[in-house]
Amino acid sequence: MAQIREHWSGSLGFVLAAAGSAIGLGNIWKFPYIAGENGGGAFVLIYLICIAVIGLPVMLCEISLGRRTQKNPVGAFKMLSPHRSHLANFAGFSIVFTGVALIFFQEFGWAVILLILGGLIIKCGWTVAGMLGVASAFVILSYYSVIGGWTIGYIIKAVSGHLNYITESAGSKCFSGFMVDLRWVIPLHLGFMLLCALIILRGVRSGIEKWSKILMPILFVLLIVLILRGLTLPGAVKGVSFFLSPRLELITAESVLIALGHAFFTLSLAMGAMITYGSYISRKQNLFLSTISIVILDTVIAILAGLAIFPAVFAMGFKETSGPGLVFNVLPAVFSSIPGNLGWLWAALFFLLLSIAALTSGMSLLEVVVAFLVDELKWKRGKAVFISSSVITLLGLLTAVSFADWSRLEWLHIALVKAFHISHGSFFEVMDTLTASWMLPIGGLTISIFVGWIWGTRKAVEEIRHGSHNFADVHLISLLAGLKDDPSHNNSRYHVLTLASLWGIFIRFLTPVAVTVAFLHKIGCLNIK
Ligand code: PHE
Repeated sequence: MAQIREHWSGSLGFVLAAAGSAIGLGNIWKFPYIAGENGGGAFVLIYLICIAVIGLPVMLCEISLGRRTQKNPVGAFKMLSPHRSHLANFAGFSIVFTGVALIFFQEFGWAVILLILGGLIIKCGWTVAGMLGVASAFVILSYYSVIGGWTIGYIIKAVSGHLNYITESAGSKCFSGFMVDLRWVIPLHLGFMLLCALIILRGVRSGIEKWSKILMPILFVLLIVLILRGLTLPGAVKGVSFFLSPRLELITAESVLIALGHAFFTLSLAMGAMITYGSYISRKQNLFLSTISIVILDTVIAILAGLAIFPAVFAMGFKETSGPGLVFNVLPAVFSSIPGNLGWLWAALFFLLLSIAALTSGMSLLEVVVAFLVDELKWKRGKAVFISSSVITLLGLLTAVSFADWSRLEWLHIALVKAFHISHGSFFEVMDTLTASWMLPIGGLTISIFVGWIWGTRKAVEEIRHGSHNFADVHLISLLAGLKDDPSHNNSRYHVLTLASLWGIFIRFLTPVAVTVAFLHKIGCLNIK
């Protein structure tokens, strides 16, 4: 007997859950440091443009795919795919040929991957796009949970007074010691996965929605408290102006591509998370308004995170360009330098904020895999949660262990070098490159091409129309002018300039081109400076 699909209790539940997925380590850990490295305000501006013209349209695609099909990503693509797609066949055969060619270059690892992928595309067509999404969620959660574990570890360290150093070098020493200490890192990784699994086990309403409604407001309050602390320090203004004043001369083509990649990651796009969450929305809700709210929440939180970090960093005389270590190496030292002996408290609150953000994102990644197992393999939720989270935890262990050094995983290192000629970086970097450079761009590309050209923007708009009539039926100029209810502005039968038509053009042309350029650049086929 088919089970009845659970739904969110209403728009608020969906928006908070999806915002919980979007707001994560990407906003609070990654965004501030990539902004710091790429020119501060100038980068923020480019990022905002990428979010508006690419992120938001793609998110609307995913959410409408999910609601239309009421299925996980694999089921969604399967349901809407045509019986025969020349484009998919062409892609499949090209990939198989490339795989065969690689055998002659003795690139056996890549050859096997391409042969399998090409074969799958020839056999299953567009459904492979959904499989890729589920696979990305699986891989990302394996390392995301390791970092999520670190954030919990840092709360414990802060509260127990172990983060009370005041120089960056002491900070990096502490962090590099912590990262390789398996007595800490492994239990924390297990703990983080356990929390995700327990919430996902409870299902959509009493698990994801309930916890998002509790955790997201806490996250917001914590952020405001930290911003107030940072902004009231003498010298904080320098940090604000670094972060927000756009110095356009610092923008390079490369920073545009970084911003684009980050827009996908931070909005949880291209890996089926929004398709999955969208599949729990009922027909009555306004998809367009919900999507805009999620995107605005995510963006506002990223900007607020910058405001919680940079003013304090500048006021205490630290450097803003310290890369991924900004949060773990520098911030504890910044907090400890704040006069008043409450450094431990600020640090604990900050890492609590980071753990909450990571948790609500981690659970959405797990839900993608679980929804796939429940829908497609007809597993019970309990079994799906147990098996998927156990396997993901095991894969994550490799990441956790490999941070120390490869000597602990000699066999894996030798295998990777032999098969793929990957010789540098930790296992984490391998996983990160695999997802960020390959799987996400390919996912973004397939989703926009599928909605734009295969399923078709017309059908997508029909879906979005249920519950949000302004999107497709109101002339944009009338809407902007506040005249949308004026009959004399709305009596033309064909509204050429609607939000829907703008969206269609973005999805059919702009997104595929931009994502392809970013992808080719990332894999080194295009050199943009
Ligand atoms: N959006 C999350 C972040 O910003 C990461 C994430 C990606 C979560 C994809 C779920 C799905 O950290």
